[in-house]
Amino acid sequence: MYKVNDNYLKLPGSYLFSTIAKKVAAYSQEHPDRSIIRLGIGDVTQPLAPAIIDALHKAVDEMGHAETFHGYAPDLGYEFLRSAIVKGDYQSRGVELSVDEIFVSDGAKCDSGNIQEIFSLDNKIAVCDPVYPVYVDTNVMAGRTGKYNAEKEMFEGVIYMPCVEENGFAPELPEETPDLIYLCFPNNPTGSAITRDQLQTWVDYANRVGAVIIYDAAYEAYISEEEVPHTIYECEGAKTCAIELKSFSKNAGFTGTRLGYTVVPKELKQGDVSLNALWARRHGTKFNGAPYIVQRAGEAVYSEEGKEQLKKQVAYYMKNAKTIYEGLKSAGYSVSGGINAPYIWLKTPDGMTSWEFFDYLLEKANVVGTPGSGFGPHGEGYFRLTAFGSYENTVAAIDRIKALS
Ligand code: MLT
Repeated sequence: MYKVNDNYLKLPGSYLFSTIAKKVAAYSQEHPDRSIIRLGIGDVTQPLAPAIIDALHKAVDEMGHAETFHGYAPDLGYEFLRSAIVKGDYQSRGVELSVDEIFVSDGAKCDSGNIQEIFSLDNKIAVCDPVYPVYVDTNVMAGRTGKYNAEKEMFEGVIYMPCVEENGFAPELPEETPDLIYLCFPNNPTGSAITRDQLQTWVDYANRVGAVIIYDAAYEAYISEEEVPHTIYECEGAKTCAIELKSFSKNAGFTGTRLGYTVVPKELKQGDVSLNALWARRHGTKFNGAPYIVQRAGEAVYSEEGKEQLKKQVAYYMKNAKTIYEGLKSAGYSVSGGINAPYIWLKTPDGMTSWEFFDYLLEKANVVGTPGSGFGPHGEGYFRLTAFGSYENTVAAIDRIKALS
């Protein structure tokens, strides 16, 4: 008789954003007349930039002719995109990487979920609390954690690093030594950022204790402050201890187009074993490459026109972030984030729990956000709003929230 992977049974409820989508769909069905503004999941709303659309059209036409048709993509990504990434995201910042340290994929969510496969099940993971749920849930599915403790809202065997107001929503080095450390900066969900010096402390720590940092830099395009690093490889020694995850979703609007990449430096080794080689083996076996047309669209992100257009797109969303931040602050809310990230993290008013505030906002203002407790126990009492809506909807949402007070 077959058996299921009972690690899945340790997971409470459904994936956070699926739960929210179901709740909103039910509310909307009961109240079809209400216009709901969605500032929950960090999904972009602006159309793809013209340079990207042109590249897509051109690539689609190529696919219609035998001479320029493309079948399976190289499993690690087309050379044209990998070298555009090396030049555009790394050499431009004084970081030397080679093309074969870049692994193109269909998005950072998949990579952040899959990367744990190249590590032994004995490894202990450390995560920020609150945290993007994919890091924890995928380790639970793999069997790298103990049971879920419903009272503490934590999995046994995981090191949680509280990110709270008192520490500026930045984790402190844990007392217990981890093997794998997940960091995401600028941060989802709190919208906080850390400086180059702070990140250097983590890199030095990881090299000292023999840990690997899995660094999610999905929100790098939103950095506005000089001292905030755009890549972990700006830190000395990062190539011997860090894997970096990057997404095209937030900087270029690819949430529905799907493209991302992972950097695994060749210097990252456990004894004689190269993590770059392990990830290449995993990628080659389980992935057939991101579509040619999408990789051409990704290449256009690094063209002069693409860069110019995307700078404006990021600025558009950051204007929303400012609108949310200042609007809520003037209404008396305690808010953070929104300076180097498209997320605003606010304290729920009047001692409401995160889910109580979710229901309250949905019912009274018809605005959807994300309950902080969905990201971990230290997210309780907080709430996340995204700047990825349209400007008009963002202004309307803040007006509705202000009208409640
Ligand atoms: C979020 O809302 O946290 C993100 O959009 C989720 C994701 O990028 O997968």
